[in-house]
Amino acid sequence: MTGGGESASATALVTARAGEVAQAIDAAFDRLLPLPQDARVRLYDAMRHAAIGGGKRLRPLLVQATSDLFNISRDSALRVGLAVECIHVYSLIHDDLPAMDDDDMRRGKPTVHKAFDEATAILAGDCLHDLAFEILADEETHPDPFVRIELVRALAAASGPAGMAGGQMMDLEAEKTRFDLATVTRLQNLKTGALIAFCVEAAAIMARLPHEARTGLHGYARDIGLAFQIADDLLDVEGDAALAGKALGKDAAAGKETFLSLMGVERAREQAHMLVAQAKAHLHGHGPEADLLRAIADYIVERDR
Ligand code: IPE
Ligand code: IPE
Ligand code: MG
Ligand code: MG
Ligand code: MG
Repeated sequence: MTGGGESASATALVTARAGEVAQAIDAAFDRLLPLPQDARVRLYDAMRHAAIGGGKRLRPLLVQATSDLFNISRDSALRVGLAVECIHVYSLIHDDLPAMDDDDMRRGKPTVHKAFDEATAILAGDCLHDLAFEILADEETHPDPFVRIELVRALAAASGPAGMAGGQMMDLEAEKTRFDLATVTRLQNLKTGALIAFCVEAAAIMARLPHEARTGLHGYARDIGLAFQIADDLLDVEGDAALAGKALGKDAAAGKETFLSLMGVERAREQAHMLVAQAKAHLHGHGPEADLLRAIADYIVERDR
């Protein structure tokens, strides 16, 4: 969105760490999704097409960056990040379907319903959703069953009608109804913010952090979640489709109410930067161990994809 030394170094730090996380996530999906020698091969192939190779892997990175504050094992953080990425990829497969945004390209590749077919895309999304909870419930994710059940509960809440799916419903309505700023904010908090907030909350759950000690992290997560979706909407207007790996200009074409339709580009950009500053202020109690979280906040509005 704008340049500057701080943001250039934030982008460098985040892309380097996200690259490491992306490799680990790709390897994990590859292990979890071997092609079966039977008629389900098309389903696995579609899941692999969507899940392996591509995407910023920002949510798994966020789980890692928050987990680093509490010395949580990299393996636990990776498995939780993998679970969130499963939900995220499922949400993208379904978001791209003709019944929703009707998109042909995702992460620089044909969308799943284009590369395969609609029925396969629906099933591949369903199965990635299921895989998320299978991963969280596995002993390998965390030795404490109470922690695992809390992770499952929190991810289910972030994905369902009071989270991502509810936000997607509101987003479809936003093409037909005029929403005010408060309603668009709620829509974005559900559609995008809830899963991003889960990434941060998951580390607090694994660290068994008392609820009263989570306030700063909750504030950080809420602010970057909203900034993230404003940045996505800005990219939809002024981004480069080749870099983004998806079609742009779709929101205005659909007549969708967004921060941009309500505020205009300049005020939306200012709002995103204000949210990032506020997010970083919520980390004031942390030292250099939170620098990656600060860099992620900066990166969220500086990114070009
Ligand atoms: C795109 O998410 C969909 C939104 C929630 C705005 P990302 O921008 O994180 O997409 P990938 O994972 O990098 O492809
Ligand atoms: C989708 O939002 C958010 C999801 C929950 C999948 P968008 O429809 O704006 O995402 P893009 O622009 O297609 O990535
Ligand atoms: Mg959509
Ligand atoms: Mg879309
Ligand atoms: Mg978008």
